[in-house]
Amino acid sequence: MCLKNKIFLGDVREVCHLIPDNFIQSIITSPPYFGHRIYSEEKFNQNEIGREKTLDEYINNLVVCFNVIKPKLKDSGLLWLNLGDTYRNKELLGVPWRVAFALINNGWILRSDIIWKKPNAMPSSVKDRPTIEHEYVFLFSKTTNYFYDADAIREPHVTFSENSKMKGGRNHLGKKNGTPELGKNGGNSNLHNGRWDQAFHPNGRNKRTVWEIPLSKFRDTHFAVYPEKLVETCLLASSQVNDFIFDPFTGSGTTGVVAKKHNRNFIGIELVEKYQKMAQQRIDESFYQATLF
Ligand SMILES: C[S@@+](CC[C@H](N)C(=O)[O-])C[C@H]1O[C@@H](n2cnc3c(N)ncnc32)[C@H](O)[C@@H]1O
Repeated sequence: MCLKNKIFLGDVREVCHLIPDNFIQSIITSPPYFGHRIYSEEKFNQNEIGREKTLDEYINNLVVCFNVIKPKLKDSGLLWLNLGDTYRNKELLGVPWRVAFALINNGWILRSDIIWKKPNAMPSSVKDRPTIEHEYVFLFSKTTNYFYDADAIREPHVTFSENSKMKGGRNHLGKKNGTPELGKNGGNSNLHNGRWDQAFHPNGRNKRTVWEIPLSKFRDTHFAVYPEKLVETCLLASSQVNDFIFDPFTGSGTTGVVAKKHNRNFIGIELVEKYQKMAQQRIDESFYQATLF
């Protein structure tokens, strides 16, 4: 069976065995959040994640999903897990972190907690607490020796930008086209590798843990589409051309579209037939666009 750009229909826990072990380089996914939405509206599916009666059941179900998924990921692979929180009876449940702790307890190594800041988050009518404008993206690994391409996602330096408050910051570089060693700090022990990377790397500083990315425009066809830019950042840092990227909760197929755009292969799973078909079509069409131009 050709697995390239295939989206399987079904429950992750039942379908995942169709993927070979140690096959996937990067998992980028956003499972349903606890108690937010109903995805299988037309034909109720009791395997749907997110509709559990209790938070414990939800966390247990996600843990089972990621236990089943884990052998499919290469030892050098990474898991990017996007999760949002839930209020119940005016109480913030802390769902993302509870899931993260449960995955840690099941052997996943938590490497980073990223705040996805949404500048165009839905307005809310609350007046007794701040309005939420962020979600989490957790970065997990299977081992401590994984593939990570920091250079692929560098961000602009701040210290020496036009807005820099640091007087004479550019003099650190000495003459035009000079290096820090030739500048006024030449010979200074502060110019260790980390500082070089932070302040002088020609392609920018190492990616930070707060990512400001607006919500996607493709939201009319599926409730909870995450932005291509978010997926792109995860994908570029954790994979190379022709690697397999996996989204076990495919939804409208955003992960697959980004994977194709960057010449990666995609495998998806989606429980609801309507979305599985929509995603397969979206990905197939994005393929033809890519080859036509
Ligand atoms: C938050 S949405 C994913 C949206 C996706 N990131 C996108 O950009 O379109 C989660 C998806 O998981 C699916 N889902 C729920 N339970 C599932 C299960 N047990 N196995 C596979 N998919 C499931 C839902 O139908 C829904 O489409």
